[in-house]
Amino acid sequence: MSGRGHAGTPARARDVAELVGASPGTEFELSFDGRPIRALPGQSIAAALWTAGILSWRTTRVNGNPRGAFCGIGSCFDCLATVNGRPNQRACLLPARPGDTITPQKGDGHGELLR
Ligand code: FES
Repeated sequence: MSGRGHAGTPARARDVAELVGASPGTEFELSFDGRPIRALPGQSIAAALWTAGILSWRTTRVNGNPRGAFCGIGSCFDCLATVNGRPNQRACLLPARPGDTITPQKGDGHGELLR
């Protein structure tokens, strides 16, 4: 690719919304681990976390290894998070909502509930 558009003019990068003719709604705020992050209507929680640069939001039961979204379609369960106090929510399937509180999940996610 030459990096040139029609008639030899320099190509201009277009974002995804522009390519598909979408007009996104108004951004809103939710939080991850007490930190505010932004999301757009229709984004999953996983997409909002990725957009904020957060790739891992839980650790495994046995070895405490970091996990985030893997399949993105609800099959692998790697993306489990605690959402508004409810553990084991699949972040890739759950639409982000204004004011949602996402908490990193450790182990089976019930540790904080047993106190
Ligand atoms: S990323 Fe696989 S179930 Fe969510």
